[in-house]
Amino acid sequence: MTAPALVALPGNEAFAEALGVRLGGGIVETEVRRFPDGETYVRVDGKVEGRDVALVSTLADPDAKLVGSYLLTRTLRDLGARRVGLIAPYLPYMRQDARFRPGEALSSTYIGELVSSWFDWLVTVDPHLHRHPALGDVFTIPAENVHAASLLAQWIREHVPEPLLIGPDAESHQWVKSVAGEVDAPYLVLEKIRRGDRSVSVSAPDLDAYGGHTPVLVDDIISTGHTLIETIAHLRAAGMDGAVCVAIHAVFAEDALDALRRAGARDVVTTNTIAHETNRIDVSDAVADGVRAMMASAGRGV
Ligand code: R5P
Repeated sequence: MTAPALVALPGNEAFAEALGVRLGGGIVETEVRRFPDGETYVRVDGKVEGRDVALVSTLADPDAKLVGSYLLTRTLRDLGARRVGLIAPYLPYMRQDARFRPGEALSSTYIGELVSSWFDWLVTVDPHLHRHPALGDVFTIPAENVHAASLLAQWIREHVPEPLLIGPDAESHQWVKSVAGEVDAPYLVLEKIRRGDRSVSVSAPDLDAYGGHTPVLVDDIISTGHTLIETIAHLRAAGMDGAVCVAIHAVFAEDALDALRRAGARDVVTTNTIAHETNRIDVSDAVADGVRAMMASAGRGV
């Protein structure tokens, strides 16, 4: 395998460093900053001619990062890079995967088309695939989906006695089922109705059979936190306190973490797909494996 040289968008330096140690292709320094008028300035400070290069750019809070990613990938190609891949541990815009109201943008499809036209390949971690069953429905370039379920399961096994896993909605079913299988713990999946960005209702779980268990709420994304806050309220009403929240992507819009803690979350734990104070599960080994698999198939001409 030819290890790609890594280029980190600002904020991704630590993750790129961790990947660089595992992959061995080195880091190419860049300068990326904002002009006073808000435009993005980009400079690549290293040789990339004839090399495979991967941009490390987790895309939470994505709009400005997408412009920076585009300018970098165009610059890398102009400077002679052979192939340019994207390592985006968090992929944005995947939840708008249908036209829920007439006239809405199909954002997941459009962003998928955009990213596919900029990069040669993509590696990401558990994107929100619900109405799109696979990455291939959104991206036309080779795309590797790295799964975090085993790492979530390992953390739960090591830290939570007698866990009862709870998924707050149908979308979470895939993660909760697979994590529960690996932990060898029972699980419940609730039903959610979303009325607006910050307004959701979640069905009340039947907890009669689970006295003595510790509730562990498992979801892919914590954004406003309202999905988990609603779920915790049901648990507390049923006398089940001390919920542990485990999620893959720490989006945490606004004051979501404080709100979750105020609602009664005993612990909030995430992976480092997005750098955040709640990161306790490291996915860099798994992402490095995903990049190796991608480079191996790219070497076979995929
Ligand atoms: C949606 O279906 C996802 O799986 C998450 O449940 C959702 O994104 C969480 O959003 P929020 O934290 O804003 O409730």
